[in-house]
Amino acid sequence: MALIDSYGRKHDYLRISVTDRCNLRCIYCMGEAGIKLIPHQEILRYEEILQVVEAGAAAGIRKIRLTGGEPLVRKDLATLVEKIAGVKGIEDLAMTTNGVLLSREAHRLKQAGLKRVNISLDSLDRERYKRITRIGELKHVLEGIEAALREGLAPVKINMVLMKGLNHDEVPAFLKLTATRPLHVRFIEYMPIGDHDREYRRHYLPLEYVRETAARAGMPLIPVPSPGGAGPAETFAIPGAQGTVGLIRPISQHFCHSCNRLRLTAEGKLKACLYWQDEHPVRPALGDPAKLQALYQKVLDLKAREHHMSPGRKSGPVNPGAMRTMSKTGG
Ligand code: 5AD
Ligand code: SF4
Repeated sequence: MALIDSYGRKHDYLRISVTDRCNLRCIYCMGEAGIKLIPHQEILRYEEILQVVEAGAAAGIRKIRLTGGEPLVRKDLATLVEKIAGVKGIEDLAMTTNGVLLSREAHRLKQAGLKRVNISLDSLDRERYKRITRIGELKHVLEGIEAALREGLAPVKINMVLMKGLNHDEVPAFLKLTATRPLHVRFIEYMPIGDHDREYRRHYLPLEYVRETAARAGMPLIPVPSPGGAGPAETFAIPGAQGTVGLIRPISQHFCHSCNRLRLTAEGKLKACLYWQDEHPVRPALGDPAKLQALYQKVLDLKAREHHMSPGRKSGPVNPGAMRTMSKTGG
């Protein structure tokens, strides 16, 4: 079976938001007060998520990523990991986390069958990290990164959202991190998602800046294959480095043409794009594997050719789907 949309793109990747809750309040993701939370009873239970994964695997899904909110604030996540790891057809199981709770959980997650992690880290400076996340302690994330390396949740990737005036001067420090440790730093362009347009316009910086900075700092970026398979990142390495440098440019050079992903939101909506609002609830199909499987294609048939996020917009988001914060849709 293959899941193919109306533009011929094959889909084999499902990103699952296991919760909309988070233990941080990153400025590009949420307002200060957090977000309006989905009531607990509306969040899919593990057994329900598993049904969606099983139907997906039968339809052609091969890769799963757990996201949030922050996936590790959901109770007993390792039991879900273990269940998903056991589904026939699932070849890759990864997680995107802010890393704050990772040092405590890494060992159990690895044993449960998690293959690898992406850790969000936007500053290597303690004060700044706190400013960007509003409440986070840098130390906890650094411990989480060490635990991921120790447990072999590899390749360990670090997601760094580049923001003018907030962390752009830390590009050399992040590049150096890849030289000395087997870490794969991915710079990500700030996307206009959620209701904070003013912040976006103030801090958006195209990733061309990273290439220029690398060249100026005497750290040439040589193209290399992407660790752990192809994705939206263009991948490079500094000669002699242990890790790699990825550039993810959803705005200045969008990669919609090669998009292979679907998303399941915490309250059980199957979505074809992070940005557009088109979605189908899975709940009415639970308990009926054939119906669940068919839902995947139904959602794909709604998928647009590309997102329409653009840095030049004069006013707020152009479609209501963009008003959902990342913590609701899953990063
Ligand atoms: N722009 C770019 N990246 C974002 N993320 C969350 N919100 C945004 C945004 N507006 C990233 C986080 C994390 C992943 C889940 O998504 O940094 O790495
Ligand atoms: Fe939490 Fe991730 Fe949003 Fe930061 S970006 S507030 S870590 S969900």
